Amino acid sequence: MSPRLLLMLAILPVTLPAGRGAAQHFSAAPSFGIDYENNTFTLDGVPFRYVSGTVHYFRVPRAYWSDRLLRLRALGANVLETYVEWNSHEPEPGEYQFTGQQDLVAFLQEAQRQGLLVILRTGPFIDAEREFGGLPYWLLSADPQTPLRTSDPRFLEPLDRWFDVLLPKLKPLLYENGGPIIMLQVENEYGSFHACDYVYLQHLADRLRQHLGESAVLFTTDGDSQSLLHCGTTPAAYATVDFGSGTDVAAAFGVQRLFESSGPLVNSEYYPGWLDHWGYPHSTRSTEDVVRTMNEMFDMQANVNVYVAHGGTSFGFSAGSNLGNNFQACPTSYDYDAPIAENGYLTDKFYAMRNATLSVATWSVPEPPPQPAVLAYGAVQMTASEGLLAAVRGLADDPVTSDDPLTFEQLRQAYGFVLYSHNVTGVQPDPVLLNVTGLRDRGYVFVDGAQVGILSRGENIYQLPVSVQEGSRLQILAENQGRICFGNFLNDIKGIVSPVFLGSGRLSGWEQLSVPLNSTQLGRVERLLAGRATNRLTAAAAPAFFTGEFDLPAGVDADSPTDTFLRLDGWRRGVAFVNGFNLGRYWPAQGPQVTLYVPGTLLKAASNRLTLLELEEAPCLATDTCRVTLTDTPELDGPTPH
Ligand SMILES: *[C@@H]1O[C@H](CO)[C@@H](O)[C@H](O)[C@H]1NC(C)=O
Ligand SMILES: *[C@@H]1O[C@H](CO)[C@@H](O)[C@H](O)[C@H]1NC(C)=O
Ligand SMILES: *[C@@H]1O[C@H](CO)[C@@H](O)[C@H](O)[C@H]1NC(C)=O
Ligand SMILES: *[C@@H]1O[C@H](CO)[C@@H](O)[C@H](O)[C@H]1NC(C)=O
Ligand SMILES: *[C@@H]1O[C@H](CO)[C@@H](O)[C@H](O)[C@H]1NC(C)=O
Repeated sequence: MSPRLLLMLAILPVTLPAGRGAAQHFSAAPSFGIDYENNTFTLDGVPFRYVSGTVHYFRVPRAYWSDRLLRLRALGANVLETYVEWNSHEPEPGEYQFTGQQDLVAFLQEAQRQGLLVILRTGPFIDAEREFGGLPYWLLSADPQTPLRTSDPRFLEPLDRWFDVLLPKLKPLLYENGGPIIMLQVENEYGSFHACDYVYLQHLADRLRQHLGESAVLFTTDGDSQSLLHCGTTPAAYATVDFGSGTDVAAAFGVQRLFESSGPLVNSEYYPGWLDHWGYPHSTRSTEDVVRTMNEMFDMQANVNVYVAHGGTSFGFSAGSNLGNNFQACPTSYDYDAPIAENGYLTDKFYAMRNATLSVATWSVPEPPPQPAVLAYGAVQMTASEGLLAAVRGLADDPVTSDDPLTFEQLRQAYGFVLYSHNVTGVQPDPVLLNVTGLRDRGYVFVDGAQVGILSRGENIYQLPVSVQEGSRLQILAENQGRICFGNFLNDIKGIVSPVFLGSGRLSGWEQLSVPLNSTQLGRVERLLAGRATNRLTAAAAPAFFTGEFDLPAGVDADSPTDTFLRLDGWRRGVAFVNGFNLGRYWPAQGPQVTLYVPGTLLKAASNRLTLLELEEAPCLATDTCRVTLTDTPELDGPTPH
């Protein structure tokens, strides 16, 4: 007999009469709470323990929500955990989005339909390796020094307006109101932020209670050290910790016990893998360690949320950056070496973790669904279509002029690129040092239309010798590589954020063109390219748009085309679009991510349009190398320079 069956036999007589269905005979309303005497959560008045897993609705194509939640259940989870991402719901002040990919309510309802309860982390700050840690860029438009994550009214006013919109949508979804939400998190690892503003934490808790009622269970999460919980906890919420495999479990929960002397033990983020940065080796964690630490937590009757059970993809420009010793941008994939891979593939780690979870699950765990299908559609011929510098005037709105360069935030632009132009005056030494210490984050430098070098925050390179004449046109294409999402330096404005010098002369007189590559601008790109299939192949064309078209092979179900992975061998760095959808940044030459995930839901039977904005160099001197490949094999572990 399996250990699991033994356990179920032992537990059945206890749990069945006390289970949710039965309990409703005794208590009128569903309830969720904390039993401090018996160190456990309670569901409908009886002891309850969860094994939860994180799946972010904003990282999974909506068409796949249901599939990924089924995989989460098959991992053994009885609870789903997700963040709410403010910047995707309120991209501009007062403009709210709650449909399609942003239909949070539908995601939570789908979880409930599948029998999952929900732990919701409403932020407002979420980190999650997302742009600006989930905060909207426009918080920095009015004042780049806005004291984020504090009780300063410059932060609280927009926050309260957002919560007034968000929280009423959640109220009917609370467990006590017949929905799936059992707990809500106050802030996110707030102890890792310098502000230590208890008034702010109390304010968040008050707002949650005001909208959601006194009985909602609130909690905080911090790394497993006393100093972090010191600033991250509030009397208004239950304190929990987070830590990954290989941690001394007793010591970590010992830290939680310093702040909650009784009540359930909770690891709110149990890391089965870890995040990546462009240019740095792919992170992995051994399955053996992950399972061992998990079992140690289970042995202590702990509640565990696996962060992340399924990571998915930071499509478009939604990935954030970290600031360690260097500025480090996060890649497009959020595979995370998680048990459920980026495309839904169930890894060996999945089966091992499932095994561990089955030994404690008193709820039903479905059989794992079949592996997701993947197809190698083959090579796609690409064509050089249009240089960005030539095209940009037709793509961008009118240029904005200024003395010193303007930031993205001043231009009210969230993501993408800004093209800065300056006409050189006076006679200059040859060469002369161009000095752009305020570059955020990567700058392609052009003199009279020819690319002369690259500046990089990630590599701490802000100066470049250039050869210019009086009247030369100096241009810098500045890229936002993702606002910082963790730590003390969140006020990460983008573009060129301080004066530019040529030699000792401060350059005055700039023109800015916005290249957000948002849906409005992409429409213009597509129209431009459609009228301009030149076929004029030139490797020197970058930055330039390249396009290709492909049909699906006969036999592929056109109603649900199979997933694939985009390989860009020979291409350097840029952004890829399929049928107008921004798949995200590619940078195979820096790794570790080599392939981009292409969900089949973006494809159609015929005339799929692939567009690349290649920023550095395309392999297009010859037709037979000017191509990309749609493969069935992901590669996230390519060579890196660091
Ligand atoms: C703790 O558990 C005991 C035994 O199961 C039970 O009698 C008691 O009511 C529980 N305490 C609380 C606060 O529910
Ligand atoms: C599952 O657990 C059983 C018993 O604990 C063990 O024998 C088996 O190897 C495990 N399977 C996996 C895939 O880890
Ligand atoms: C570059 O400009 C900054 C001011 O923005 C200045 O402090 C620094 O010394 C300059 N660096 C060089 C190499 O000229
Ligand atoms: C630079 O000169 C060109 C050509 O005369 C002009 O169109 C452009 O507006 C000038 N740019 C700036 C920033 O003055
Ligand atoms: C795209 O960006 C432009 C320029 O920043 C802006 O005017 C436009 O409203 C944006 N479109 C969308 C759909 O966000």
